[in-house]
Amino acid sequence: MLKEIKETASFLRKHYSPAAETAIVLGTGLGGLVKEIDIQATIAYQEIPNFPVSTVEGHEGRLIFGKIGDTEIIAMQGRFHYYEGYSLQQVTFPIRVMQFLGIKTLIVSNASGGLNPDYKVGDIMVITDHINMFGDNPLIGRNLEELGPRFPDMSEPYSKDLTEKAFSIADKHGITLRKGVYVGTSGPTFETPAEYKFFRIIGGDAVGMSTVPEVIVACHAGITCFGISIITDSGVPGQIVEISHEEVQKVAAEAEPNMTKIIKELITTL
Ligand code: HPA
Repeated sequence: MLKEIKETASFLRKHYSPAAETAIVLGTGLGGLVKEIDIQATIAYQEIPNFPVSTVEGHEGRLIFGKIGDTEIIAMQGRFHYYEGYSLQQVTFPIRVMQFLGIKTLIVSNASGGLNPDYKVGDIMVITDHINMFGDNPLIGRNLEELGPRFPDMSEPYSKDLTEKAFSIADKHGITLRKGVYVGTSGPTFETPAEYKFFRIIGGDAVGMSTVPEVIVACHAGITCFGISIITDSGVPGQIVEISHEEVQKVAAEAEPNMTKIIKELITTL
């Protein structure tokens, strides 16, 4: 694994000599941020040695090197999901590569089902904490000290400082933001009513199928994280209706301009 990580990092460094300290995972709802990037180079995942290849529709796979304002960034357009059949080590391989490229801050976005009864479909939630319900962990296996400690601290998985900054940006633009706990599950099934209820009872405000593995690995790597989620459907008893991937994409697209505004401005503060 370490050999592959180093090989991929040095391949990317050779081709693009990235100086970026900020990486963005352009999950659902952040696709529009691509338009804000002054793109210097892109590379398709298929062309990157050791990278898995994304299979889900609506998730293109390429790495983008460029700038947002004056801030150098690396963006992942498309991510890997556990439900696609990758191991969590494969899902988080790009984050390891980012670690070796010198990334200090990771921004991730996703779509989720709302569990908190105060939330409305279309709301944007800053992730303040998570609950790992994948039934797996990307750090299982022999620990390599070069990557991080055996028992990593998770007392502040999502930066309080960046959360505060996001709220003041949202305030300035009159955008309503929520903050809450994200429950990460393997998917690909959406939740049954009983599962939504369970995730609410254990302390979740939203539930989705990504982000937790990436943030675990980023924490292990000492990378500061910021996560943001679009509530695309409701898991609140009495409000649960049939949902589809298409519906999730549609709601996310509507929230995208506000999400983009916040992240774009947040990045300029880094
Ligand atoms: N559950 C899990 N993942 C999701 C949901 C949901 O309700 N909505 C968007 N992603």
